[in-house]
Amino acid sequence: MNLADAMTIKLDYDLPEYPAFEEGYRRAPRRESHLSQADKALAIKNALRYIHPDHHAQMAKEFAQELEEHGRIYGYRFRPAGKLYGKPIEEYKGNCTEAKAFQVMIDNNLDFDIALYPYELVTYGETGQVCQNWMQYRLIKKYLEVMTDEQTLVVMSGHPLGLFHSHKLAPRCIISNGLMVGMYDNQKDFNRAAAIGVANYGQMTAGGWMYIGPQGIVHGTFNTLLNAGRLKLGIPEDGNLAGRLFISAGLGGMSGAQGKAAEIAGAASIIAEVDDSRIETRYTQGWVSHRTADLAEAVKIAQEHQASKQPCAVAYHGNIVDLLEYVYDNNIHVDLLSDQTSCHVPYDGGYCPQGLSFEERTKMLDKDPEGFAKLVDKTLQHHYEMICKLHDKGTYFFDYGNSFLKAVYDTGVKSICKNGENDLDGFVFPSYVEDILGPCLFDFGYGPFRWCCLSRNPEDLDKTDAAAAEYIKAHNRRYQDYDNYVWCRDAKKNKLVVGTQCRILYQDAMGRMNIALKFNEMVRNGEIGPVMLGRDHHDTGGTDSPFRETSNIKDGSNIMAEMATQCYAGNAARGMSLIALHNGGGTGIGKAINGGFGMVLDGSERVDTILRMSMPWDTMVGVSRRNWAGNPNSMSTVAEYNEMYKGQDHITMPYLADDAVIAEALKSIQG
Ligand SMILES: NC(=O)c1ccc[n+]([C@@H]2O[C@H](COP(=O)([O-])OP(=O)(O)OC[C@H]3O[C@@H](n4cnc5c(N)ncnc54)[C@H](O)[C@@H]3O)[C@@H](O)[C@H]2O)c1
Repeated sequence: MNLADAMTIKLDYDLPEYPAFEEGYRRAPRRESHLSQADKALAIKNALRYIHPDHHAQMAKEFAQELEEHGRIYGYRFRPAGKLYGKPIEEYKGNCTEAKAFQVMIDNNLDFDIALYPYELVTYGETGQVCQNWMQYRLIKKYLEVMTDEQTLVVMSGHPLGLFHSHKLAPRCIISNGLMVGMYDNQKDFNRAAAIGVANYGQMTAGGWMYIGPQGIVHGTFNTLLNAGRLKLGIPEDGNLAGRLFISAGLGGMSGAQGKAAEIAGAASIIAEVDDSRIETRYTQGWVSHRTADLAEAVKIAQEHQASKQPCAVAYHGNIVDLLEYVYDNNIHVDLLSDQTSCHVPYDGGYCPQGLSFEERTKMLDKDPEGFAKLVDKTLQHHYEMICKLHDKGTYFFDYGNSFLKAVYDTGVKSICKNGENDLDGFVFPSYVEDILGPCLFDFGYGPFRWCCLSRNPEDLDKTDAAAAEYIKAHNRRYQDYDNYVWCRDAKKNKLVVGTQCRILYQDAMGRMNIALKFNEMVRNGEIGPVMLGRDHHDTGGTDSPFRETSNIKDGSNIMAEMATQCYAGNAARGMSLIALHNGGGTGIGKAINGGFGMVLDGSERVDTILRMSMPWDTMVGVSRRNWAGNPNSMSTVAEYNEMYKGQDHITMPYLADDAVIAEALKSIQG
């Protein structure tokens, strides 16, 4: 059989020129692999499956070299030369709007201004990749260039399995990332699978192609900080965090939003970051207002802003633990404290030990990974100790969904567990979902709805911002709606766009559906170009993650991964354009199952039909689950929904038992 003839969609016969690496862009550290000789052979053999046999001898050596140097085969030769970015949709080839839209989003995820390690296809979260290698990138594009609106592309951990016929109301692309059979569902086996080229870590929106730059998280962080202030510091509903100090760590892909969000919420903030290049990025983007490597200066700037009730975002170039020691020793009161280092992968470079510069960290990670892991453990334990000391002085600390508390627990600190033994009942400090985002937002269905104006025209974004603000103003029911109105009204002023013209809005089920329908109508009327809707996986319904998204589900079901799976299946059944299901999310392999979607608005009636079916489902599956767990705000939202959709949808509600009745029943069976 002549395989090259048996395929019409394949990489070009001629090998592309080896591209030059432009200076000044961050490169991923060497990844852990520990492959046997047999596994190394398998990794090279697997990568060669994309390559015509005439080039195998040459490429086998090139791949072997990459594996040795980087711990992974990225197929650098196949990266298109120069800058990648999400171009206006009409500049892409394709037979349907969805296929062109996906190409915009993929390239946006790999934009030099956006991606954390653009040459290694890492969008954010230290290891979150669009796909595993550049051969897959090229092949996915080839498929998208020919796909029609009656076909579906299947992508498994970055590998385009193929194009299959379906129908106009079916998803155009179905993605899964890193889903592993239970007994292998751990970091070590995942690392091996990734190194031999069969597993991709999609993080949340990286592998689901819906990342929209750090603004994706700004709104969530803003909501978290503001509501933490309301709940824990007594800030009135119409007040902000003026005069308050927020401290955290990380100015990377997502964590880079912290300073900006704190500024929008009115706070003075200091964010520690060990990598100066990331500070440079955030500073030039205007996402931090000051930068210094001097602890006293960082604190002085923040205190001056607190005194004048002006917001600021100070990037401190150094380790977070040094900063915490300084504020503790100098008796500086910290109102809100968190951390957003990449603790979901602390031993792979996500967390920098105290005493090492960023460059030393990268070297040690390569030369002495075991020694590095020991230093990580030591710093994590000391970091936790400093948090406890500050907490005793009145600081409110929350885990910001980066597995920080779990990482400390994994170093052997049992006292961090609520039950003093294991992590089944959670940790002594709350996760931000348990305390804040869950009850204030997720339980009502407010979650990270986002949209991308595929024309790349800022005027389209202005028009959609105005349409969303108008809808919210007309449906103002509670402070969350008012916050959203202010968010949309001021969005342009806050200069949140990096890359394509996108926006994020923590909206509830009905709001998401109605705003989506409005946008589709605007596309239909020619007021704006096509739009791609999506959401972060950090949401009410799409993610099962016991230490994060589902940490405020207290009926014991937070160890189950059925909601994310049902959400994904339901979105497929209702015809979302793109659906994705991943392992690990923002918390690490085996710790979450998370899914998301992309929905292309082309102005058609077909899209209206899909929006009416799928948008309420995507959110209400999460509200239903939270209602079944007895969360009061979800129960009231479900009661309203049952009334609104009478005869069409119906959600089961729980009869809540009185604890005294249960205690009595237990007494009756005690001997
Ligand atoms: N809560 C949420 O909504 C949410 C959303 C997205 C991501 N996350 C989680 O937040 C974490 C960070 O995500 P990201 O995309 O910003 O990752 P990232 O790796 O791009 O950024 C983390 C940053 O922390 C810095 N850092 C590491 N150790 C440090 C230390 N000891 N002191 C100071 N700086 C240090 C790194 O240099 C890096 O720039 C991840 O675990 C991610 O899963 C949470």
